[in-house]
Amino acid sequence: MTVLVTGGAGYIGSHMVLALVDAGEDVVVLDNLSTGFQWAISPKAELVIGDIGDQELAARVISERGVNAIVHFAGSIVVPDSVADPLGYYSNNTVKSRALIEVCVHQKVPHFIFSSTAAVYGIPVGNPVYEDSDLAPISPYGSSKLMTEWMLRDSAAAYDLEYVALRYFNVAGADPQGRSGQSTPRATHLIKVACQTMLGQRDHMDVFGKDYDTPDGTCVRDYIHVCDLISAHVDALMYLRGGGHSGVFNCGYGEGYSVLDVIKSVEKAGGKPIDVRDAPRRAGDPPALIAGADKVRAELGWQPQHNDLDKIVEGALAWERHLQLRNDAA
Ligand code: UFG
Repeated sequence: MTVLVTGGAGYIGSHMVLALVDAGEDVVVLDNLSTGFQWAISPKAELVIGDIGDQELAARVISERGVNAIVHFAGSIVVPDSVADPLGYYSNNTVKSRALIEVCVHQKVPHFIFSSTAAVYGIPVGNPVYEDSDLAPISPYGSSKLMTEWMLRDSAAAYDLEYVALRYFNVAGADPQGRSGQSTPRATHLIKVACQTMLGQRDHMDVFGKDYDTPDGTCVRDYIHVCDLISAHVDALMYLRGGGHSGVFNCGYGEGYSVLDVIKSVEKAGGKPIDVRDAPRRAGDPPALIAGADKVRAELGWQPQHNDLDKIVEGALAWERHLQLRNDAA
């Protein structure tokens, strides 16, 4: 029984690989290393360097390793980039996922877990937003992921396949044992940018919009620790193996923090203020996005352990320091 993790060299995928090998699972990673890092992959997992859209390669990996579950992380993840390059996002996130799902079906892999996103909701009518809320993505990123959810839904109806799609809210933090974290140097995510600013790698950071209809005018998000997100994937795998049926689940804590709340937390963790500047709104940003997260607890038995923004930020900052030392030494 081997689990195939696509994108296992990336931020979230590498944490999944750690959790699986820690649980004694055999793991093969398929990653083209376009944004991920070989060093981020547990040495206990096998790495195959290649593209998820390469059906011949994926089929070979699945049949040779006896893969019986696929956890699919590989993809492009930056909302504003997707606005600038929609066709690139549809190619990477939708077309290649279709290719992978087709191989999964042909190879009779029974279980598929998919990294989806809260971006499928677009600007929700109300918060928290639940799984049966309207799906109206406002970015090509969200659309590209939603189309994959639909391909999975329709494939599960037609073939012998059960899937779980996990809709991530804002993933942050790092492995508490310091083995992995968000390592993409030009990452655009808020906590990463604020930590880089704290460490002097950026001379300032921007707040994209202070005129939203939110308590302090900045966007509100539900920040989930990467380890809790990963435990939802492990729960999903156990659920599917135990005969659970296909479904879609939000992954967040159900609590919102503003951009300014996050910056305050980074300043607390770093012990000094950072240079923060007002900037115009960023394309594709909904004002507030908070998970209705009852279903993942009730049906997958998810029990988060790291619901604490300050702790999430401290972990992210510690990881950023580690990366800095690593890069200085290189
Ligand atoms: N932000 C800043 N300054 C920065 C970076 C971010 O003000 O330098 C703001 C953004 O405008 C946004 C908030 O911080 O309001 C969070 O932005 P991130 O880039 O950290 O994350 P996103 O909210 O864009 O992305 C997340 C998830 C996606 C999800 C998307 C939905 O990563 O999976 O929310 O909008 F799809």
